Amino acid sequence: MAETPLHHSTDPFTDGEHSGHDPAVPSSDISTCGPDDGIPVVDFDVLVNGAADRRAQAIRDLGRACEDWGFFMVINHGVPEELKEAAMETCRELFSLPEEEKAEYLEARPMDPIRIGTGFFSVADGVRYWRDYLKMFAHPELHCPAKPPKLRDVAAEYSAKTRGLLLVLAKAISESLGLDGGRIPEATDLESCFQILVANHYPPYTGPGGAGLGLPAHSDHGFLTLLFQNGVDGLQVERDGRWRLAKPLPGAFFVIAGDQLEIVSNGRYRGALHRAVVGGERARMSVVSMISPCLDAVVEPIPELVPDGRGLEFRGVRYRDYMEHQQSNKLDGKGALDFARVQRDIAA
Ligand code: OGA
Ligand code: NI
Repeated sequence: MAETPLHHSTDPFTDGEHSGHDPAVPSSDISTCGPDDGIPVVDFDVLVNGAADRRAQAIRDLGRACEDWGFFMVINHGVPEELKEAAMETCRELFSLPEEEKAEYLEARPMDPIRIGTGFFSVADGVRYWRDYLKMFAHPELHCPAKPPKLRDVAAEYSAKTRGLLLVLAKAISESLGLDGGRIPEATDLESCFQILVANHYPPYTGPGGAGLGLPAHSDHGFLTLLFQNGVDGLQVERDGRWRLAKPLPGAFFVIAGDQLEIVSNGRYRGALHRAVVGGERARMSVVSMISPCLDAVVEPIPELVPDGRGLEFRGVRYRDYMEHQQSNKLDGKGALDFARVQRDIAA
């Protein structure tokens, strides 16, 4: 299918070319990363309908996936393929709208409910990445650009379906930590969660070196991220110091553990470090649905996971403050987590 990349020269964020890739990442490192067949797979249907023993095993596997990877695939998830396709197609239409139709969202700031742009946060970063994006707050209230006209209905349905899926996963994750299914959702007010939808568009790469960065290494600021792509690979996940190319099983979603899960689990589960790499002639797109604690929830490690308060890794931070901090600074791997980390007295 023909793809029409945005004309970056007219983008108000850019005063020239994309820088292509982070100078710290040699393009050889970007392109030599092979696919990883070891990415854990979670069968959602077993979590919901499985007999007790199969379900218990699935919960243990889920726990191990969160501990070892912070990243897994979910199959048999029940989100209709037509709905995923409608979401992808509608976002593609948005990216190919003329610039003036999107102008009012292009200057938006990190906490504005609708943002369209290029790069991650180019003002703070000083670096452009090979990426266009749309970010919209989807819950408790859906904020949506007026065009394309069907975006509102598609986004409403897609956000509701994926929110339900992510909440079930959150309960199962809570159980996998030896807690009640409701414990983490209640502690983080996940039922009235804050949800964002993001569409990423990575134009065909024409920069130097054959490959570049669409999105630099980062962990997500929320609790859980659900992602699928348009059939073009490019998402890489770090594990044991190595980057691995994530190749989805047919129909599967990727799930990425975010910083808030790392905080509530007191570091037992980790927010996955990941990045998007571009290279080749086909445009890549991804559609992302992320749930997070309610914006006013103060997120801290679940006390039962920190007996006697010893080994407490994180302090309580209001999620709104955390998100604003992460979104207003240069994307720096997992550096944003230091905002919530308990600072130990070096002299002691
Ligand atoms: C993100 C993200 C990766 C991708 O939007 O936070 O990590 O593959 N996207 O688009
Ligand atoms: Ni991400």
